[in-house]
Amino acid sequence: METSVTLDFLGDLRRTHSCGQLRASDEGKSVVLMGWVHRRRDLGGVLFMHLRDRDGITQLVFRQDVDPAVLQRATAVRSEYVIAIEGSVLKRSAETINPNLATGEVEVAVAKIWILNESRTPPFPMEDEVDVAEEVRLKYRYVDLRRPRMQRNIVLRSKISFAVRESLYAQGFLEIETPFMTRSTPEGARDYLVPSRVQPGTFYALPQSPQIFKQLLMISGYERYFQIVRCFRDEDFRADRQAEFTQIDLEMSFPQQEQVFEVIEPLIQRVCEVAGYSVGATIPRMTYVDAMRLYGSDKPDRRVPPMHPVEDLLPALTSGGLPLLAIHVPATGVLSRKERDDIKAFGKERGLRVFDDPKYLEKEYAAEMAQVRERCGAGENDLLMLAAWAGEPKGHRPEETVYQACGQLRLHCAQKFNDRHKLLDPKNFQFLWVVDFPMFEWDAAENRWNAAHHPFTSVHDEDIEKLTADPARCRAKSYDLVLNGVELGSGSIRIHRRDVQSKVFSALGFTPEEAHRRFGFLLDALEYGAPPHGGIALGLDRLVMILAGETSIRDVIPFPKTARGADLMCDAPSTVPERQLREIGISIRPQQ
Ligand code: AMO
Repeated sequence: METSVTLDFLGDLRRTHSCGQLRASDEGKSVVLMGWVHRRRDLGGVLFMHLRDRDGITQLVFRQDVDPAVLQRATAVRSEYVIAIEGSVLKRSAETINPNLATGEVEVAVAKIWILNESRTPPFPMEDEVDVAEEVRLKYRYVDLRRPRMQRNIVLRSKISFAVRESLYAQGFLEIETPFMTRSTPEGARDYLVPSRVQPGTFYALPQSPQIFKQLLMISGYERYFQIVRCFRDEDFRADRQAEFTQIDLEMSFPQQEQVFEVIEPLIQRVCEVAGYSVGATIPRMTYVDAMRLYGSDKPDRRVPPMHPVEDLLPALTSGGLPLLAIHVPATGVLSRKERDDIKAFGKERGLRVFDDPKYLEKEYAAEMAQVRERCGAGENDLLMLAAWAGEPKGHRPEETVYQACGQLRLHCAQKFNDRHKLLDPKNFQFLWVVDFPMFEWDAAENRWNAAHHPFTSVHDEDIEKLTADPARCRAKSYDLVLNGVELGSGSIRIHRRDVQSKVFSALGFTPEEAHRRFGFLLDALEYGAPPHGGIALGLDRLVMILAGETSIRDVIPFPKTARGADLMCDAPSTVPERQLREIGISIRPQQ
């Protein structure tokens, strides 16, 4: 781009203050400010500008008595030009004070101006209120990141990372890096592969998590490890998932599960404080079985009341020993026919029979429904309905299938009527530990058991026999940290004995050869004095997203990818020259 104005050199000019710093007490000071021209207003002879930097905005005024050459330069300036000014701080008169700016009591009367760089007209204005398509924001991310909301989010992210480091250093953790170019790690997603040039035909895998390395560090005697670390998973993108995301990853030697919680709880308290919120010092615990029974989910959103099993009161409404659940959402008012039909249809799609009409139920089962109401604590103005499984029992833990479907219905109702009851307040932080997860999940497509967390997770001491006898009921020493229906983190006490690890691999259907091929180095390491150990990883992006009041992690990641995995700004992924492919011994097959 040809420049349309002559640009000035910075020379040895230094800024004296940031654009968020000046106050009435600075009146009369001579200052040098630098930044971007946020806005310009020409009020017939008096020119005003808002100058912006990371710290804030200061109003500049070019008064009638300013040197005409300076005024002429200032007139050439447009939005987003980068300038420096020298001037003196003036107190604004009472009627011109701007209460929306931290610097609103003052303005700077400009005496000199330097135009350091010009800018093309930005693709969208810098104001938060302006609604801009996400594709445009991501293509011009460097401009988008200048907007106040994005700046707030990125600054908050940085402060949270710092608070995490402070908290963990204070608790005796060491920050240790682990490799990015490594072997496949077992978190269950697809790997991103990096071809080796030196050994053609072989590949590194980018880590889905540092899981194995952190366990190796415990075997090496480092006792308390942490890392704020990028992880890579080739899985479908969603609002709370990216292919590369960041974990607060930690591991400890000799811990009880409670000791892991005792490390995380002050960390969470501190992080919330940094974001401007105060939360309790301890986080409640709930078993997986209770979370399923009460919320139909392993990540309960406790801002809405739990469900209540009522099959004991109304056995006629369910069959096969499966649960009948009362779903209660306060303060929804009377629902219209259409709203009730929608709820019924939503339940039906998930295999449920929904008894949506409380009037009918109350006529038919007056005494029982009075008890249901009492059990739920449901008032007249609340939504109350019952739901049961419509077909044959399904799955290895059939009651779970029913709880899950009812849990989805519960959340659907809660979200649908949130504008009435306002229970889903994003600033009401309901943290929860969910403990005692099942060890295995049935993979119907593959007809086998998978590790519910990962294959290095310990089984409950008293459930070891169930590893082969009753895998469906075998509990793991694993736990999740949940916040308002979002899984924030996940961890476990690990297996530290080679014989137990081999048993678990075999329960998961790995042949000894396959286990050795994939994880031989870990199995070997377990034979060299592995201490009992355990840990957790929290999703930093999700944590920042919730504390920033956002609903997508893309808004708290500086350079995220679109839902299709593209970086629109630098146009990645992209093809590469044939020569580069030859070097790494790769030829591209045409897509079938
Ligand atoms: P897990 O796979 O549950 O556990 O991941 C831990 C946490 O990381 C976050 N997370 C993600 N965030 C954004 N995008 C993604 N694609 C994504 N995937 C996961 C979530 C999740 O709770 N090694 C184990 C931890 C351990 O056992 O110590 C692990 O990675 O917030």
